[in-house]
Amino acid sequence: MSPRYNLDVDLLRESPTRSINRLVEKFKREDRDIIMLSAGEPGIPPPIEVRKWLSEALKEDSMRLYSYTPSPGFLSLREAVAEDLKDLGGLDLSPDQIVIASGGQATMFSTLAAVAEPGDEIIIIDPTYFGYWNLISYFKLRPVTVVASPEKSFQPDVEAVKEVVKKGRTKAMIIVNPDNPTGRVLRWDVAKALAEIAVDNDLWIIYDEPYKTLVYEGEHIFMYKLAPENVISLNSFSKDPGIPGWRLGYVYGPEWIIRKISLISEAITYNPPSVAQYLVLEYLRNRDIRRRHIEYVRRVFIERRDVMIEELSKIDHVEYVKPSGSMFIMIDLKEVLRPLGLKGGWFAEKLLNEMNVATVPGEFFGRSTENFIRLSFSTETPERIREGVRRIRELIEKILSKRT
Ligand SMILES: Cc1ncc(COP(=O)(O)O)c(C=O)c1O
Repeated sequence: MSPRYNLDVDLLRESPTRSINRLVEKFKREDRDIIMLSAGEPGIPPPIEVRKWLSEALKEDSMRLYSYTPSPGFLSLREAVAEDLKDLGGLDLSPDQIVIASGGQATMFSTLAAVAEPGDEIIIIDPTYFGYWNLISYFKLRPVTVVASPEKSFQPDVEAVKEVVKKGRTKAMIIVNPDNPTGRVLRWDVAKALAEIAVDNDLWIIYDEPYKTLVYEGEHIFMYKLAPENVISLNSFSKDPGIPGWRLGYVYGPEWIIRKISLISEAITYNPPSVAQYLVLEYLRNRDIRRRHIEYVRRVFIERRDVMIEELSKIDHVEYVKPSGSMFIMIDLKEVLRPLGLKGGWFAEKLLNEMNVATVPGEFFGRSTENFIRLSFSTETPERIREGVRRIRELIEKILSKRT
């Protein structure tokens, strides 16, 4: 008999973007040019000024960049994050309310590990970011889903949340804003109502806001201001300033729970990566560079989003909601797929294999979006976005012509 392993590992499902990237890598070796409408990362590197600063720092003959750092991250970085949040949202946080972690994914893991116990009910919006479904299974939590429908512009249904919440049983509600996968930006009245539900029922709002600087219409709501005792906010530097491979993010919230999250964080990684912390510190401290970068990225993404929408509008039989934030558009293919008894996963596979366009099947984000695919407008140029969506149209027309 061979040694045994923890069967709970089998509750984890590989991330769709990782598995698509593996396929794309293989296709690239075969000289196939894939249009990447699947990636959840920006196609723009951090500002040149901070990269230049880092290249100079790398010349130092010292251990500064290479040593262990404090487990919750450098105090100077936690101070810079507090200043940043004051500037962006008028938040008043002490550095002890902030823990730096090794990426947004790590913040999700350590927060759920610190907050939830097996069997706890967690309210989750369907569709939602893939990673949460995974962790909810792994930690043996009970997902209580509330559908956010395209008819309501993917805003969470407050009345439905009220119906499922159970004081003493519900531990937390997970809200992503701006949203992945829908690009929805939370409306003020909805945010306020959700905060009230959390306060009235003693539950956490795990508020995932890695796209908070990527809002194109409307304004980002800092939920913490509405319910400071109940909100744990998760953040990432993967999207802004754009260092997904360097793994850096942070959590803020009430100091007592942050201390507990920090303990989990330390148990996993000991400390977040030092070089990434130095780069982000330089970025956040130079407010002009930071502001210019955010404005630049926003401008570029609005242009790309609008090109994508313009091309999508030429396709019959698909529905979508124009996103006001983040990097994604969900497109509904039910008119095309339902008569054939097929799902978005089938379409995405065909699109990749036959048309060389990578997208993510909607089923990874929830049951309600099984007929959807998610498109990202953050990495490719406007020309390639146009071409990618043109190929989607071509495939749809091919499928429809066979049906008739
Ligand atoms: C909503 C959301 N939360 C968390 C993450 C994880 O971010 P990170 O790359 O920092 O691990 C992502 C990444 O795409 C995301 O979209």
